[in-house]
Amino acid sequence: MDLPSIDHLLTTTHSVRKRLDLEQPVEPSVIQACLQLAIHAPTGSNRQSYHFVVVTDPDKRAAIAGYYRQSWTDYIAVQDQEVAAAGVEGKRLEAIQRVRGSAQYLADNMHRVPVLIIPCYQGRVENDGPAAQAGLYGSIVPAAWSLILALRSRGLGASWTTLHLVYEREVAAVLGIPAQVTQVALLPVAYFTGEDFKPTERIPARARTYWDTWGQRR
Ligand SMILES: Cc1cc2nc3c(=O)[nH]c(=O)nc-3n(C[C@H](O)[C@H](O)[C@H](O)COP(=O)(O)O)c2cc1C
Repeated sequence: MDLPSIDHLLTTTHSVRKRLDLEQPVEPSVIQACLQLAIHAPTGSNRQSYHFVVVTDPDKRAAIAGYYRQSWTDYIAVQDQEVAAAGVEGKRLEAIQRVRGSAQYLADNMHRVPVLIIPCYQGRVENDGPAAQAGLYGSIVPAAWSLILALRSRGLGASWTTLHLVYEREVAAVLGIPAQVTQVALLPVAYFTGEDFKPTERIPARARTYWDTWGQRR
């Protein structure tokens, strides 16, 4: 395996928002090819009850973007209040403001993103326990992340978003998604501008790795 390329892909796959190319069309064939790679991810009991709704119709994209924007507006009003109340400042505040600016841009422009993909799974688990919930989400999140990696490797950016799920039922009505199907995310997809991405900044895994007993380091 080409470890440098694989490691680069794994460490530099960001949420792409401001660098989405809103003008360049995306061929349906590249989306389908990436989905075909993504479905090699595992599913519980190998049930393979995944579905992917790829939205390119401008009116439907606009309708979904409207619900997304409403949810974002409500979410960010609360977050802004919490940040102010907590007296966050310095580097942490800068980091929050960076993501906020990028996410605001996405909310303002979601309707212009050429492709919106909603990964779905057959079944509903909101009234079930943790095993059923983990079983459902664990059967679609790995595929959706593989999809983002496959897209990235072909020059397409995306970001994981969930805010539209506040209006999951309304979006289901726009797209004809059956009531027994769970939507798990909304991935806005477009070619990205610029050449490459820097590594993501994360709390090191070592700081959150425990051996044999919670909290125990090696
Ligand atoms: C479960 C989940 C939900 C998210 N929801 C949203 C969202 O609704 N809107 C958005 O702009 N970003 C969303 N994000 C993206 C995060 O803000 C982003 O991954 C994080 O800030 C780290 O940035 P990076 O992906 O560029 O490294 C979500 C990410 C995850 C994992």
